[in-house]
Amino acid sequence: MTQTTVDAPSKDRAQIPARTLRKDRYWLSPLVTFVIFAAWVIYATVRSMMGNYYWVDKYHYLTPFYSPCVSDACKPGSADFGTFVPAHLPFFIPYALISLPFLLGFRLTCYYYRKSYYRAFWLTPSACAVPDKSPARKTPGAYSGETRFPLILQNAHRYFWVIAGLISLVNTWDAIKAFHGADGGFGIGLGTIILWVNVILLWGYTLSCHSCRHVVGGRMKNFSKHPVRYWLWTQVSKLNTRHGQFALITLGTLALTDAYVALVSGHAFSDLRIFN
Ligand code: FES
Repeated sequence: MTQTTVDAPSKDRAQIPARTLRKDRYWLSPLVTFVIFAAWVIYATVRSMMGNYYWVDKYHYLTPFYSPCVSDACKPGSADFGTFVPAHLPFFIPYALISLPFLLGFRLTCYYYRKSYYRAFWLTPSACAVPDKSPARKTPGAYSGETRFPLILQNAHRYFWVIAGLISLVNTWDAIKAFHGADGGFGIGLGTIILWVNVILLWGYTLSCHSCRHVVGGRMKNFSKHPVRYWLWTQVSKLNTRHGQFALITLGTLALTDAYVALVSGHAFSDLRIFN
C-alpha cells in the first residue's frame, strides 16, 4: 500500500515575482464598496449633526437618525423616551446620542462589514490571492488577526447586538406612531410605508446576525431535546444566509427614510397620503 503525504500549508506567500496572478477585475468590488460606504458615512454624519428636518409633526414621522431623540432641543412630540442631553451642546453631539454610537459599534463589528472594510479600506487583503497591504504583514510573525488589541474588541459584537435589538424596538415604536392622520386620528401615508419597510428590514438585519444565530442555537449538545430552539435556529439560519444583503439594503433604506422625512419636514414636497 502506498502512503500519500500531504504538506502542511505554507505560512509564507508563494515566491512569485508578480504582485498577483489574478487577471480579473478583483479590485472592482472593493472599490464599489469603498465609494458606497464613504458616501453613506458622509451623508449620515451630516444629517445626524444637522439638528433639523428630522420630525414631521403633522404625521409623526421621525427619522431613524434621530431615534430616540434624547436632547432637550428635540421638537415637541419627537422625544417619547425622555431627554437626557442638554440643548446647546456643540453641533457634533447628535440628538440621538444614546443610540448612534451603539449602532455604529454594531455595524463596525458586524462580520459582513468587517470583511467589507478590511478589503475596501484597509486592503488587508483587497481580494483572495492578492497580497495583504497591512504593515503587520511586512514583519514576519507580527500578524495577529483579531487576537490582540485593538481588533480583539471586535468580540464585543454580541453585546452591540443586544443593544441594537433594543434600538430596533424603538424604531418599531416610531413606525407605529407614523400611523397618524392629518386630523389627529389614524392615517397612512407614503412616509408610514417607508418607515415600516425600513424597520422590517432592520429587524431582518438584526435577527440574521451571526451572534443571534449563536444565541438561539449555540452551546447545546443536541437539538433533539430543544425543539423550540432548533426551530428558531433553523429560521435564523435561513435569514443568516442573506445577512450581507440585509446589511447593504438597510444602508439604503436608512438613508432613503431619512431623506424622505427631511424633505417632507423641509416642505420640499407633501407626503403622499393614502388615508387621512
Ligand atoms: Fe452582522 Fe452580527 S454579524 S450584525
